[in-house]
Amino acid sequence: MLELKNARIGYGPVSVVHNLTISVGASEAVFLVGPNGAGKSTTLRGIIGHNPLTSGSITWEGKDIGRLAPHQRARLGIALVPEGRHVFPQLSVLENLEVAARLGPSTRVKERIEGIFDRFPRLAGRRSQKAGLLSGGEQQMLAIGRALVQEPRLLVIDELSLGLAPVIYQQLGESVRGLARDGLSVLLVEQNAVLAMKICSRGYLLSGGTVVLEGTVEELKTKSEMRELYLGGLGKGN
Ligand SMILES: Nc1ncnc2c1ncn2[C@@H]1O[C@H](COP(=O)(O)OP(=O)(O)OP(=O)(O)O)[C@@H](O)[C@H]1O
Ligand SMILES: [Mg+2]
Repeated sequence: MLELKNARIGYGPVSVVHNLTISVGASEAVFLVGPNGAGKSTTLRGIIGHNPLTSGSITWEGKDIGRLAPHQRARLGIALVPEGRHVFPQLSVLENLEVAARLGPSTRVKERIEGIFDRFPRLAGRRSQKAGLLSGGEQQMLAIGRALVQEPRLLVIDELSLGLAPVIYQQLGESVRGLARDGLSVLLVEQNAVLAMKICSRGYLLSGGTVVLEGTVEELKTKSEMRELYLGGLGKGN
């Protein structure tokens, strides 16, 4: 469904990601892991159109979208849960969802918002509360809700677990896995490779702005690079 081929993405003249070839299929959950500064966020920003693609291609269902504006890509069904969540702290939970819903179709807005509250009952009980007063886990739930209310076909998540307690990110991981099982495509950037491997079926290891390893979860688990870098936490309850 989404395919990047030999993509080069950067900030103005500075290119950070190069020769990057990755894909996400329909109803598939795929992860990107890699050390700090590897270019994971830059890759996601390139996919949603916030950073320019300077060579290579990004295609969506075979159509070139590498030059489309962010709102046009959103309309195709690509929604981002940004690193650091970025909810509007002064707006209520409901208002945050209403603002985000405008990025999606113009129909059934109320129903779509109620659908988010059904999925995340913790948010429903806090619908009038200012988002800035929510816990970190609840803010992440809201950030996911803000993406889902757009009715995307591909959910792009930048750091699901960052700064959250294990019990919280395990629950969020379960929610994301459920979404993927229901047919949504997911591209997940995650520091916690153990969590990423629980949610996704396939993934890529990025380093220095390009893919250095790829495969199914089963394949990747056997690779020494993955084990050394990321699986040290196995057996520690995560
Ligand atoms: N606005 C910017 N202008 C120039 N360079 C930037 C900018 N933002 C990030 N970079 C550089 O791009 C490189 C990759 O950053 P990126 O945020 O994509 O990494 P990351 O893999 O998401 O890292 P992290 O795990 O820390 O989130 C870094 O070397 C960073 O310094
Ligand atoms: Mg990042």
